[in-house]
Amino acid sequence: MERTATHRTVLMCRPTHFTVSYRINPWMHPEDPTDTSLAVRQWETLYAKYLELGYDVHLIEGLPGLPDMVYAANGGYVLDGIAYGALFEYPERQPEGPAYMDWFRDNGFDVRVPVATNEGEGDMLLVGDTIYAGTGFRTDVASHDELREIYGREVVTLHLTNPSFYHLDTAFAVLDSAGGPDSVAYLPKAFSPESLAILEERFPDAVIVNDEDAAVLGLNSFSDGKNVVIASRAVDFERQLRERGFTPHGLDLSELLLGGGGVKCCTLELRR
Ligand code: ARG
Repeated sequence: MERTATHRTVLMCRPTHFTVSYRINPWMHPEDPTDTSLAVRQWETLYAKYLELGYDVHLIEGLPGLPDMVYAANGGYVLDGIAYGALFEYPERQPEGPAYMDWFRDNGFDVRVPVATNEGEGDMLLVGDTIYAGTGFRTDVASHDELREIYGREVVTLHLTNPSFYHLDTAFAVLDSAGGPDSVAYLPKAFSPESLAILEERFPDAVIVNDEDAAVLGLNSFSDGKNVVIASRAVDFERQLRERGFTPHGLDLSELLLGGGGVKCCTLELRR
C-alpha cells in the first residue's frame, strides 16, 4: 500500500538540564549516572530527522531543575489552535505545566487551564476524529470530560494496567492519523481487558508489537502517515512497518530511555 506523508508541526525541548534525579516510573534509577551531553547529542539526531522530513519544529527552552522537561509530549495537548494545559501527577514535574502554557500563549494558542490531572499528549492521541485518552497511572479520567468539552470530539478512555507503560504513548502508536482499521500499533498486555476489546474492535488490522520491541519503547514513535521515526532497537516493529508500506527511521535515544521516554515523548504535535 502506498502511504502518504502529511506535513507536521511539532514542539520540542532540548535536554540541556536532563538527568534522572527522582523516580516516578520504573525506568528511572536515580542511583545510576546519566550523561547529559550524550542525551543532547541523541536528541539532536531526532531534531535533525524532523527537519530532514520537512516538519516545522518549534523549541521551548528547558528550565533548570526540571530534568523531564525534554518530554514535550507531556507539556499539553494542542488541537484546533486550542492548547489544553497539563497538570502533572507528581510534584517534581508540576512547574512544567505553567511553563508550557506560557509558551502556548506567547505563540498564539488559545490556552485552557486544566482542572483535572493530565499529562498532555503523553496520554491523548488523535486518530481520525477521535481522541484516545489513557488513564490509570497519570492522567485522571476527569480530564477526558474536559477534553470532550473543549474539543467537541469523541473521547475514548483506555485503561493502562502495566506500570512500565504508564503513558498511553508508550503502549499505543498512531501510524496514520487519518484513521482506519490498520492505522495504529499497540502492546496488548498494557491494557485492561475491556480497553483491549475496544482496540480490537476499532483497529482489527493493527500492528501488534512484541514484548522486546515494547521494552525499548518502540511504540513511542512519531509518524507523518508515511515516515515513522522509531527506536532503532525495535527491529521487529521496523520490519512490520516496512511490510505495511511505511518508511521507518530508526534512532538511538538510549540516554533519554533512562528517564522512561523515547521519540514520541520528546515530541508534542501542534495543530492549528
Ligand atoms: N520521566 C518522565 C515521567 O515519568 C518521562 C515521561 C515520558 N513521556 C511520555 N510522553 N511518555 O514523567
